[in-house]
Amino acid sequence: MTYRIAVARGDGVGPEVVESAMQILDRVSQVFGLDFSYHDVLVGGAAYDATGSPLPEATLKTVDSCDSILFGAVGGDKWDGLPHELRPEAAILGLRKAMKAYSNLRPGILYPQLKEASPLKNHIVENGFDICVVRELTGGIYFGRKRTWEDENGERAEDVEEYSSMEIERIARKAFQAAMGRRKKVTSVDKANVLHTSRLWRKVVEEVHLDYPEVELFHMYIDNACMQAVRNPSQFDVILTSNIFGDILSDEISMLTGSIGLLPSASMGDGKRGIYEPIHGSAPTIAGQDRVNPIGTILSASMMLEHSFGLTREARSIESAVKKVFEEKYHTEDVFMEGGKTVGTQEITRLIAKNIENGAN
Ligand code: IPM
Ligand code: MG
Repeated sequence: MTYRIAVARGDGVGPEVVESAMQILDRVSQVFGLDFSYHDVLVGGAAYDATGSPLPEATLKTVDSCDSILFGAVGGDKWDGLPHELRPEAAILGLRKAMKAYSNLRPGILYPQLKEASPLKNHIVENGFDICVVRELTGGIYFGRKRTWEDENGERAEDVEEYSSMEIERIARKAFQAAMGRRKKVTSVDKANVLHTSRLWRKVVEEVHLDYPEVELFHMYIDNACMQAVRNPSQFDVILTSNIFGDILSDEISMLTGSIGLLPSASMGDGKRGIYEPIHGSAPTIAGQDRVNPIGTILSASMMLEHSFGLTREARSIESAVKKVFEEKYHTEDVFMEGGKTVGTQEITRLIAKNIENGAN
């Protein structure tokens, strides 16, 4: 059987990190005797330059015929002046919407080998942490009504935050299910002291919780959650939250793991198909210089193997290979490591590939 993977390189460092992840997938296919086929699609600024659209029809068509998508990053100064629907970001937002990928899993793990790399004090990260952010991805303020108009006070703009109970219920289920396979604790993050949407969020999350009595549920306001994440990150297991709060909180948590370059993500709907991308952006200032950390994308490929293809053993082999390079003290420049060896994108990829083993052999 061949696993068909749509490859969306995008802009900035996107092509480099995707290339690295493909090298790792190739190595996995060698070691485990699997067959991956790659199908290039245009997205983001690159797609806009080539076709006039950040998410061309042809891309959606190819994606439709694939089992999953490996996505790099989109965006850059060059396209900042474009209207909302032509901006590079419209590609990723449109793809998430088109694939009904409402559930975004963003695991934030502080590896013991990287304790020094965390900006938090040693006594706080003594025991590391392992957080899974479950972010709602196709609703809320990202997709609510948007407009800019003029009135007597000058220009005015609005972005509407809107959620239905259906949208909240399905993402809450994903969070409780994730918690069942972990430490059975969900912290639902909202701003229910101010927002109507958050009060609905709480109500629905509590209803869904009734189906998961084994899971402990806590509610936390977003401002407190941001503070708690730096005060004591190990208190969190699964964090369930809305599109925009999840965007912000996952960047904060990524930095606590040592670098935003390390965090992968999986975006899925009800089926097996997913979009797998690092949580970082296109970082145009370091693009094309062999400097970007490819690990967020490599771990995204590992999430693809696990969540879309059910290849758990193969996914674990990638994670172990990544841990091993940290044990060997190799890292890219964005990660601080006392006495470590700083290497470039290609070298760290080669080292990870070399470490991939079939444990059964
Ligand atoms: C992310 C990114 C995107 C988002 C941008 C590029 C639209 O920041 O995946 O976290 O806000 O969702
Ligand atoms: Mg983000």
